[in-house]
Amino acid sequence: MCGIVGYIGTKKACPILINGLIRLEYRGYDSAGISTIEKDGISVMKDKGRVKNLYNLKGIDDLEGSIGIAHTRWATHGKPSKENAHPHLDNSRTFSVVHNGIIENYNELKKFLSDNGYKFLSQTDTEIIPNLVHYYYSKDKKDSSSASIDKKDSSLSSTDKEDSSLKKGDCLRFLRAVKRACDDLKGSFAIEILCKDYPDNMIVVRKDSPLVIGKGDGENYIASDIPAILSFTKNFYFLNDLEFAVLSRDDIKFYDDNLQLIEKATKSIDWDASSSEKNGFDDFMLKEIYEQPNSIRETIGAKFSEDSDCEFDELNFSKDYLKGLDKIFIVACGTAMHAGLTGKNAFEKLCKIPTEVDVASEFRYRSPLVDDKSLCIFISQSGETADTIAALKLCKEKGAKTLAISNVIGSSITREADYSIYTHAGPEIAVASTKAYTSQVVLIVILAIYFAEILGLSSAEIVNLKRDILELPKKIEETLKCSEQVKEFAKRVYQEKDIFFLGRGVDEVVAKEGSLKLKEISYIHSESYPAGELKHGPIALIENGVTVVGIMTVPELVKKTVSNLQEVITRGAKTLVITNQDIDKSMFDMVIEIPNTNTFVSPVLSIIPLQLFSYYIAKEKGLDVDKPRNLAKSVTVE
Ligand code: G6P
Repeated sequence: MCGIVGYIGTKKACPILINGLIRLEYRGYDSAGISTIEKDGISVMKDKGRVKNLYNLKGIDDLEGSIGIAHTRWATHGKPSKENAHPHLDNSRTFSVVHNGIIENYNELKKFLSDNGYKFLSQTDTEIIPNLVHYYYSKDKKDSSSASIDKKDSSLSSTDKEDSSLKKGDCLRFLRAVKRACDDLKGSFAIEILCKDYPDNMIVVRKDSPLVIGKGDGENYIASDIPAILSFTKNFYFLNDLEFAVLSRDDIKFYDDNLQLIEKATKSIDWDASSSEKNGFDDFMLKEIYEQPNSIRETIGAKFSEDSDCEFDELNFSKDYLKGLDKIFIVACGTAMHAGLTGKNAFEKLCKIPTEVDVASEFRYRSPLVDDKSLCIFISQSGETADTIAALKLCKEKGAKTLAISNVIGSSITREADYSIYTHAGPEIAVASTKAYTSQVVLIVILAIYFAEILGLSSAEIVNLKRDILELPKKIEETLKCSEQVKEFAKRVYQEKDIFFLGRGVDEVVAKEGSLKLKEISYIHSESYPAGELKHGPIALIENGVTVVGIMTVPELVKKTVSNLQEVITRGAKTLVITNQDIDKSMFDMVIEIPNTNTFVSPVLSIIPLQLFSYYIAKEKGLDVDKPRNLAKSVTVE
């Protein structure tokens, strides 16, 4: 979704901003723009289409300003066009704004501003922001000049409370106008704003939308997420909702919602900057698929060894608390939700705790029966998914304890939740999630083991499972050797219109994820079904030449899935099978053999051929694997 970058320092801002936008391209967008403060005022350059188009804009090379903001837009209000692209200016060109999120009451505010003489050039909700700031900015000026005449009319001038915190030189008027505009905004926003009267300051504020601040030496950065500025700094500040930051070259000041100065500490992020580069791979997706042996090693970390119990430094659940739980809810979106489904299997079988898994956008509106006897787990790679965050807030209101599983330290979800644990998969840039998924699966199974051990439910099964988890990185390396075989099958079927995925037990969960991957990047229509459901409808769609993928890793269910596949073969289907079981291979068109492992974590291996399958199909079709159409990496609006 929309991406934000900001820079204030001593270098030319323009190339830094464009470079940052390129690093945010993976989030998905349809137009881009930058704004800098130049000697003669605020400049704005923007256009529809790719970020690199910005380089072709007349005058872009002449930008000298060392302070600027930039944006990639993913259209919500108004079609993708130059007019609707950010940054947006107010009518007097005093303020320039980029915004990520949605202003829900923009019609109301637009009317108010129109009634006060403001004109609008775009169809966006964002354009009301610079104008609203301008409205308060000029009103404040009028109020302070009349203050000596009428001290009573102080509703828009500074309060005593603010004055104690805001000193001269803190761009007080600018900050106060931004704050007052924010008071009027309903919805979600991450906003960067420049003011031509304060060429040495930039203000940022956020509510329910991602934004990080990178601290440099004599320069500071803003971005929607960490990888965009990781090559410049490893020290980050994170704003809570409705906190303001005033950036200058050497300093960053933070204010709360009452404009009281607050202290914030930096968090150091140990991601390697090169982990956000392709490092010789054609695409981020392929690189991330191949990173899985290492990302899983990082996920496991030092949480347990073969003969020691699981430990999470971040958690302190007691046996009584876990025993008192009625239910675990796992809530997430997309691929993260599929990882949640593997968690259900683990919590129910290992911990004997009933577990429900929900899509966040449904969960939040279905009046879930959550209370203080529920533990609610939220899985989100980015930690910024709007529906997942909203679901988390709902569970807190209902008195449940909340636990976030995320890949991004300091992300919104981790700041909201009572407890947070991290997948440590490193930055994931490709829109289609691969290494984040396998890390989520491993982490949630380790969490289930940790609970089971606290509950005194350790067993030989758990001892074996721990050994199998420790062996996963090596087994992923072995699994990746199937690449050429998968590529060959992808070449045979890449022109198909429909592909079906079947499995039972955890294999059905992998079928769901394999089918999602295929849809996301190859644009082939695909469905996944529990293999046993085939006869209840989907088999009507099987005709000569249709491709069916079967996953078979659950020993007690393998024969049943084989019979289901026989039924589609009889009707002329081509079959690709992923298995670690001893089956008669002769009846299938291709069988990918993967290493044997524990069923709880077999999705970590069985998904890999399917990740490669969708990747090679998309490549055969000549598609942009990393940035599939219409999709965004991080869905920060409902
Ligand atoms: C988007 C992405 C998916 C991701 C989902 C949830 O749809 O394209 O890859 O699985 O959001 O994202 P999250 O960051 O919450 O895991």
